[in-house]
Formats: sequence, structure tokens, C-alpha cells
Amino acid sequence: MKNILITGSTDGIGNLAALKLACDGHQILLHGRDQAKLNSTIAKIKSFSKNENIFGFVADFSDLSAVKKMAAEVKSRVETLDVLVNNAGIYNSSLSKNNEGFEMRYVVNYLSPYLLTQELLPLLSNMAGSRVINLSSAAQSDVSIRAINGVVNIPVQAAYAQSKLALTMWSFYMAEKQPNISVIALNPGSLLNTKMVKEAFGHHWSPAEKGADIIYDLAVSQNFAGITGKYFDNDSGGFSNAHPQAYNKAAVSELITFTENLLN
Ligand SMILES: NC(=O)c1ccc[n+]([C@@H]2O[C@H](COP(=O)([O-])OP(=O)(O)OC[C@H]3O[C@@H](n4cnc5c(N)ncnc54)[C@H](OP(=O)(O)O)[C@@H]3O)[C@@H](O)[C@H]2O)c1
Repeated sequence: MKNILITGSTDGIGNLAALKLACDGHQILLHGRDQAKLNSTIAKIKSFSKNENIFGFVADFSDLSAVKKMAAEVKSRVETLDVLVNNAGIYNSSLSKNNEGFEMRYVVNYLSPYLLTQELLPLLSNMAGSRVINLSSAAQSDVSIRAINGVVNIPVQAAYAQSKLALTMWSFYMAEKQPNISVIALNPGSLLNTKMVKEAFGHHWSPAEKGADIIYDLAVSQNFAGITGKYFDNDSGGFSNAHPQAYNKAAVSELITFTENLLN
């Protein structure tokens, strides 16, 4: 039995992946931003999987202090983590910036998973063969620190793509820094049938299960054991090259220095 934390598991591909992993008998740590939706998700997954080891954590990822609080709660529930899936993410949002003035997609899709993972590193490092899966996207574009800071305003599509490249750059960096942890950046497939895609595009190309299945495989399949610092593109069905900036050491270093200063 593995301890598996999946953020954003109250809906979409994170929810389907959580259900599939629960059916295999793993201890699943769910996460959502809404307590009532989280409670109902816990009940549904327990009932369907007949697995009682399902627990939930609430944190709005637009609020970095809530992420820190959640990390403390996770640490008080489990001493080790086998798998962390940084899946929670947004495209559209009613507000373009969070309370601190940071671009909303950057906060939810990049800064919050970065902070959560940093806080949970001891739990991952305690576990041989632990894995971190970061939900990237085929949409990736050059990161602008001024956009993260909210100094310049950029369109939603650009902010989403930049936040996903930032997540990918950090994934590669973390893989180098943490050789005991396997870190993969994952494009789960483009335009999967989920709430996010319905709201943003109004149509889909593939069923949501396509994304859930690859999260499941990367989380527990022996085929992926020990593979780290790579980008898996589920549109092509294999490991592939991410955006060139993800391999630009100077750009990665600038992003990481900025992020560490901001979070610490
Ligand atoms: N679907 C695709 O085609 C596609 C393609 C490439 C990458 N991705 C990535 O895959 C991940 C999952 O996407 P999805 O399509 O499954 O989306 P989804 O159905 O909208 O699910 C997103 C999940 O994240 C949670 N979430 C959203 N905003 C949050 C916030 N501020 N704080 C905490 N949790 C929050 C949602 O909570 P609620 O249940 O409360 O809404 C939900 O559990 C995302 O990172 C997305 O960028 C998806």
C-alpha cells in the first residue's frame, strides 16, 4: 500500500486517477478547495472502492498561507509519501490576481505546488522510489517574472502557458537537486473532457480517462520506476522535449532564485 497525495482531486483527471488508485487499495490523500465538495468526493471514493483509507485536505491554492497550513496537516497525518501528484490547476478564473497581487494562474499552477512540494520534501525523501508528477501541458510559453509579479498584465492563455512552463522548468531542476525522488512533468493530453476544458474551450478532443490513466501509470507502474527529470507528452504517448526554455540553465536559475526568494 502506497501513500498517494493528489491535489485537485475533487474533479477532472485528478479525481478519476484518485478513484483508480483507491481501487488498488492505496492510502489516498485527496485535496480540494471546497470542504463540502471534498467531503462528498471522499464518500464517493470510499463507497466505490471499498477502501476506507481515504483522507481529505482543504486549501485554496490561490492563497499560499493555506498551502502551508495544508502541508502541516499532511505531515501530521503521514510520515512518508510515495507519490505526490501536483494536479490542481486553473485556466479561467474570476480574479486575475490573488490577494498578494501575483498572477492567479502562476499562483495556483506553479507557486502553490512548488511550496507544497518543498514543505513535503522530508516525507518524499524518507521513501525509497518516491515520485512527484507535475501536471504540465502542451501549452508552454516563455516565463516572464514581471507577469508572475503582476507588474505586467498578460492574457489568460499566455499566463496559463507560462505557468505550465514554469512548472516544467522547476520539475527538471528538482529532479537534479533531489536524486532520490523521481520527478516527471506530464502533459496528460490536450483538450481532455473536464470542467476546466469545458469552461475554457467548450469542446474536447479526448475523454478525461486518457489523462487519469497516464497519471495512474506514472504514479505506480514499474515501467516508470527511477525515471526522472523528463517530460511525458501524452499527446504523442511518450517522453518528449519540453519547451526549449526548460533546458536553458540561466532561465531556470533566474526562475528558481525568484521563486525561492518569494516563498522563503
Ligand atoms: N484537461 C486537459 O485537457 C488538460 C490538459 C493539459 C493539462 N491539464 C492539467 O491537468 C490538471 C487537471 O485539470 P482538469 O482538466 O482535470 O481540471 P478540472 O476538472 O477543472 O479539475 C481541477 C481540479 O483543481 C482544483 N482547483 C482549481 N482551482 C483550485 C484552487 N484555487 N485551489 C485548489 N484547488 C483548485 C479543482 O477544484 P474544484 O473541484 O473545486 O473545481 C479540481 O479539483 C490541471 O493542472 C490542468 O492544467 C489538463
